[in-house]
Amino acid sequence: MTRERWLDLVRGTTFDDFLLAPQYSVVERRDPASIDLSCRFSEHVTLARPLVSANMDTVTRAAMAIAVAEQGGIGVIDRGFRAGEIAPQVREVDIVKRRQHGVISDPYTIAPGASLARARDQMRATGVGTLVVVDGQRRLAGLLTNRDLRFADDTADTVASRMTPRDRLVVHRGLPTPAVAAGTMRTHKIKKLPLVDAGDVLTGLVTARDLLAQQARPFATRDDRGRLRVAAAIGATGDFLERAAELIAAGADVIVIDIAHGHSVVMGRAIDAFRHRFGDVELVAGNVATAEGTRFLLDRGVNGIKVGIGPGGGCTTRLNTSFGVPQVQALVECRLAADGRVPLIADGGVKRDGALALALLFGGDTVMLGSALAGTTETPGDVVQKAVVVPGSTRTVQVPFKVFRGMASLQAIVDRLDVEDAEVADVEALGAEGMEVSVPARGSVTPVIREMLKHLCSAISYGGADSLASLQREFRAAPERYVIRLTSPARDESFDR
Ligand code: XMP
Repeated sequence: MTRERWLDLVRGTTFDDFLLAPQYSVVERRDPASIDLSCRFSEHVTLARPLVSANMDTVTRAAMAIAVAEQGGIGVIDRGFRAGEIAPQVREVDIVKRRQHGVISDPYTIAPGASLARARDQMRATGVGTLVVVDGQRRLAGLLTNRDLRFADDTADTVASRMTPRDRLVVHRGLPTPAVAAGTMRTHKIKKLPLVDAGDVLTGLVTARDLLAQQARPFATRDDRGRLRVAAAIGATGDFLERAAELIAAGADVIVIDIAHGHSVVMGRAIDAFRHRFGDVELVAGNVATAEGTRFLLDRGVNGIKVGIGPGGGCTTRLNTSFGVPQVQALVECRLAADGRVPLIADGGVKRDGALALALLFGGDTVMLGSALAGTTETPGDVVQKAVVVPGSTRTVQVPFKVFRGMASLQAIVDRLDVEDAEVADVEALGAEGMEVSVPARGSVTPVIREMLKHLCSAISYGGADSLASLQREFRAAPERYVIRLTSPARDESFDR
């Protein structure tokens, strides 16, 4: 199909305008263990699974970012904290980066002379059960675990009196591979392996828990030190560079400059300032929904582009402004413009699992999800009980709900403002482009993600391919073999249930 015909076919269309024609299937099994779903989130960050949790304050903080990275995707920590408050966002990044390690290069330490009360406080504050005991020169003196504190006298005893001392510890000099560390732990039946240099100075710690977690999830998204990967969003004005500096220092793997209209003078300035200060730190920018917008970001040297203006579940931009591009049209236009130079993130509008495959074929390298993950345990926010009328009766039952809201909703904006200092007129004058809804609370996000991945694998099988990349290649080479533009009755037949 010519470029012009292809653009013509998708103009004004979105996911529910299409079905895909089944092809001869070549796979025996269709599950994520046997079908390769690997993809690129940004130029230098690959994922085993193409899912990204949205940077929204009712979707992604540390718990969600950890769950998604453990399943092979990546989470983007939102910046929806009050203006001027950088530390809370940095803390979320820090929690993700400390969650799983290959090697903990900066384990929590304590001095031999410290009191047990101090050790107990430190374990409580940091949530770790083992402190490495080091002297003033950071030489290894022992290990103190929470078991050593049981029945101990906090006031009379010191760390030195309860720790396992250096001469009874098994240590490793230098940096072990995971296999070597696991072998040493197996031989000596230990759970913690301190790493030291030739002068016995502490250089790191390997734990059995981390090694087991890595073996259990070979597809999890990890950096080269074995830590889970995480991205973090910043704005394009105000404290955005300072925020970026602190997020990068905390270990954020990718920074996402996320503003509603990314094809803008504000974005241009922000990318230039970012590159000037941080060099080639991995940078994604968005959102755009046109070829021109894509070229604008490419020309400024971003490593990934977020595509979507107005398809989001919590979004009212199109209602309020009449601007936006139907998401399939946006994905096709942006992909043709990007021409494989950087990956695209299809952001917004995925309401059913089947739309994932469409988003990944029409243009996305990955898909960003907001409302599809809403209401799960890992989303921030409290569960509230609401009375719901049972259909067909006057009886009500209490149902647990969580809030999901657009980041430009009035409620989200007011929460970010220091409302006590803001003029009432300022708050009222805000042009809100999002809304707030209650969604049923529905347990952990992990089975939700697994179900999506299974459906995606089935789609790849129906598409006659054996991996996501091969289906994308074949679809993009000859889309006419696959796409069926639906009539209104065909749409009802397909999706009206
Ligand atoms: P879904 O459909 O997965 O989309 O919920 C998530 C994406 O929606 C965008 N978003 C907004 N767009 N006003 C908007 O115009 C808003 O208030 C808003 N909040 C989120 C965002 O791109 C997100 O990733």
